[in-house]
Amino acid sequence: MIEQQKSNLSGLIDRRIFHLVGETADSLSRECYVVGGYVRDLIIGRHSKDIDFVTVGAGISVAEAVASRLGKGTHISVFRNFGTAQVKHRDLELEFVGARRESYDRGSRKPVVEDGSLDDDLARRDFTINAMAICVNKSRFGELVDRYDGLGDIRRRIIRTPLDPDITFSDDPLRMMRAIRFATQLDFNILPETLDAIARNADRIGIISRERIADELNKIMASPKPSIGWELLNRTGLLDLIFPRLAALRGIDRKGTRGHKDNFYHTLSVLDNVAAVSDNLWLRWAALLHDIGKPVVKHYDERLGWTFHNHDFVGSKMIPEIFRSLRLPLNEKMKYVRKLVELHMRPIALVEDIVTDSAVRRLANYAEDDLADLMILARADITSRNEEKKARFLRNFDIVEEKFRDISAKDRERNRKAIIRGDEIMHIFGLPQGPQVGILTKRLLQAQRDDEIRPTRQDALDFIYAVAAEQGLSPVNEPFDISDPADTPEDSQVELNQ
Ligand code: CTP
Repeated sequence: MIEQQKSNLSGLIDRRIFHLVGETADSLSRECYVVGGYVRDLIIGRHSKDIDFVTVGAGISVAEAVASRLGKGTHISVFRNFGTAQVKHRDLELEFVGARRESYDRGSRKPVVEDGSLDDDLARRDFTINAMAICVNKSRFGELVDRYDGLGDIRRRIIRTPLDPDITFSDDPLRMMRAIRFATQLDFNILPETLDAIARNADRIGIISRERIADELNKIMASPKPSIGWELLNRTGLLDLIFPRLAALRGIDRKGTRGHKDNFYHTLSVLDNVAAVSDNLWLRWAALLHDIGKPVVKHYDERLGWTFHNHDFVGSKMIPEIFRSLRLPLNEKMKYVRKLVELHMRPIALVEDIVTDSAVRRLANYAEDDLADLMILARADITSRNEEKKARFLRNFDIVEEKFRDISAKDRERNRKAIIRGDEIMHIFGLPQGPQVGILTKRLLQAQRDDEIRPTRQDALDFIYAVAAEQGLSPVNEPFDISDPADTPEDSQVELNQ
């Protein structure tokens, strides 16, 4: 514990709510402090909505008095068993708890809790940056209580436990995940002694629920550079315990002089590449999992060297099991990740060849609304250190994307008109001009626009025959003799830069 610094942060908490809570606590003769993550974020300049208060003595009575002062539109929930109360007022969420001392039992995260002093309360917290309090009582308004130099650690960008890290982590092993998560979110370093203690206590993670671990993993994934977290999980041994399938990507096998790239580090680069351009959490998961099938299909071939045939397909099949075991949602997010993992090699296969309209259209039809995300993933996957090669692939992706745009413009243009025109319908079914012809062309146009049919002449004809049959019409003439514009004449080809 270091000498108390007498910092005054009243400027940071000069809001009506803090004065109101302070005056309420004064009226009950209670010491009251803003504490924990809110103080950390206030100092760092991050926005956080929930405000935690700690009072010396019972917190519930202060919460009740604050709620009645806030008046109309305020909602209070009291949890007597835990000695806590939550006050909601408009978009404010205030949590009140009495200062406490905790002692833990090795078998669980549930501590034995007793009333304690402010110092007891700060000492039981996970990291120095989370163990600061700011007084709201009028006579000491804004006074920072910082027993463990959290302010200095914010300045030095360090994650460190207030007490012996072996005790902090063994008491509550979730804190190992939190340390790594904060290091990733804030781009802070974990103090070497603290990191060593995580490695020593890693197997204690077994008492933490998978849901809590998933929360932390998602926070790591949503950070600006998620690789920081995965690399730390790897370094401390936690990765092998919580996600062995990802750990299996690690390492390089050699046969004679032939090795392959380390797929774990490649995956982390792909993940960071995606994170640099997209906040989409599930696209980031797709990046993390894009090569997850590789260890399963890895094979050494005398002629070809190391191969990973079909890893895209095998990997996509593994996604539901991985989502289940990580407690990620088994809904359309999972399906989206599975689809991107399955398709992630397709754009590169496309540019390695001559690009035809139909190949581009096929991929676009497959990927549907996820095409732009697939291209982000495909671009992110080019991690070659050979700059010339990288530039060539990216240039070729530009060409493919231009083709996507061309084709969708062409398709849009085509969808303004029915593929089978009214005069041909009249000819096939021997119909006179009239409402029946109009109905058939309208139905066809709708089917084209809704992608109910592929935009080919044959599909359009099949559709018209089916709709006409429903109306009791039979063909009396062959269709006009025209080749399909979607398949042949305009199916242009582009040679890519090799
Ligand atoms: N805390 C702790 N050990 C934990 C969880 C929380 O010591 N396993 C303490 C920390 O002081 C933390 C405070 O409780 O700052 C509030 O916890 P919580 O709201 O879960 O996290 P925050 O630190 O506020 O951060 P975030 O909201 O990003 O999770």
